[in-house]
Amino acid sequence: MTAARKTHDLVVFGATSFVGQILTRYLYEEFGLRGRLRWAIAGRSRGKLEKLRQSLGRGAAKLPILVADAGDPAALHDMCSSTRVVTSTVGPYALYGEPLLRACVETGTDYCDLTGEPQWIRRMLQKYESAARKSGARIVHCCGFDSIPSDLGVHFLQREARARFGQPCDRVKMRVKAMSGGFSGGTFASALNAFKEFAADPRLRKELANPYSLCPKGFGPKTRQPNVKFAEYDADFESWVAPFVMAAANVRIVHRTNALTDGAYGDKFRYDEAMLGGPGLRGRAAATGITAGLGGFAVAASIPPLRAALERFVLPAPGEGPSPEAQMKGFYDLRFLGRTADGRTIRVKVTGQGDPGYGSTSKILGQAAALLALDLPRSHTQGGFWTPATIFGDKLIDRLEKHADLHFEVLED
Ligand SMILES: NC(=O)c1ccc[n+]([C@@H]2O[C@H](COP(=O)([O-])OP(=O)(O)OC[C@H]3O[C@@H](n4cnc5c(N)ncnc54)[C@H](OP(=O)(O)O)[C@@H]3O)[C@@H](O)[C@H]2O)c1
Repeated sequence: MTAARKTHDLVVFGATSFVGQILTRYLYEEFGLRGRLRWAIAGRSRGKLEKLRQSLGRGAAKLPILVADAGDPAALHDMCSSTRVVTSTVGPYALYGEPLLRACVETGTDYCDLTGEPQWIRRMLQKYESAARKSGARIVHCCGFDSIPSDLGVHFLQREARARFGQPCDRVKMRVKAMSGGFSGGTFASALNAFKEFAADPRLRKELANPYSLCPKGFGPKTRQPNVKFAEYDADFESWVAPFVMAAANVRIVHRTNALTDGAYGDKFRYDEAMLGGPGLRGRAAATGITAGLGGFAVAASIPPLRAALERFVLPAPGEGPSPEAQMKGFYDLRFLGRTADGRTIRVKVTGQGDPGYGSTSKILGQAAALLALDLPRSHTQGGFWTPATIFGDKLIDRLEKHADLHFEVLED
């Protein structure tokens, strides 16, 4: 089927997942069924998909349903052939994601997802990047809280820095000032699977230490990258800082954006992310506590019996996650500081309303997918593996501000 004759603009694969259900409700409220976006829901269980559709109300009775198992290449091929874009929330992506990605690449179908698993993204890049360029499929990973606020936050900061100073900032820091939200079973399953992979393969552990691991071969600025691994004092923010759990994916996506734009942020660009603990002894204690908590989780997740105990007794099961009230009440406030080579600084704030990983992520993914389906002509963007900032840029900032409760602003002194 040619793009013009495809039945759907967008298919939500994994619509019955914890985050997929929130996304489906959001798309229904935002686009309905009679608007510009012709969309459908998909997954492995017709019964669950029908139940989800019913939960939307009678008006949704005509929302199309497609059934495909993540391990059935023929069904995935048919699904991809029927649509311009597939967005997937079927994770852990490292376990279930590859057959769908291959089907998208083979059928020239655009694709976006919520993965935050850099080891899987790297494998997909190595296997499918040249085929995606040939087929025209535009592949965009990390279209949720990781990594869109970070990738677009840096993009926005650099745009403003160029306008004010005539040059980009070669040092950018992202600091999480405040964040309220939770984690779902699917997110923990993806994290635990990554620890399992790292424990089994020393090459992956080496890869994890390389902040440029998602950059094209040959893109190798020799600048040593900062990395907050322990509690430390950050004079720029007059605060103690601790490691940020999403940094592993976000930092790599931001460097890939720099690489794909021929080093638009500079060949000495340095970037890191951390959480603000606050000033003084209390700030130090908070940053130390966060560091210890993350370290404890990493140790437990790396040891098979402890990992099994976490899965069985401690963490939410797949399909579970923060309550609807928590999803609505959640929020985040991210601060960016940029400094040019000659010492001028700019500060940017990115805020979002809704639990970062669910209430907000589903709106971000919905707008990214709709933008890909409706407003990014293929004549302007070729097939291949993009980052959110390189393919969506200002257009997505605009949509997120208008329709997804995100806000990007420069903080004037
Ligand atoms: N980037 C971000 O900010 C962000 C935020 C949130 C989540 N995530 C990621 O999004 C993913 C989903 O998270 P979640 O908590 O929503 O997961 P979840 O509730 O555990 O859902 C997993 C989904 O995968 C489906 N699935 C599993 N095996 C399948 C198969 N063989 N064929 C077809 N479908 C299959 C399940 O289908 P059934 O419903 O039929 O069981 C379910 O819909 C995770 O990888 C998570 O890390 C990322």
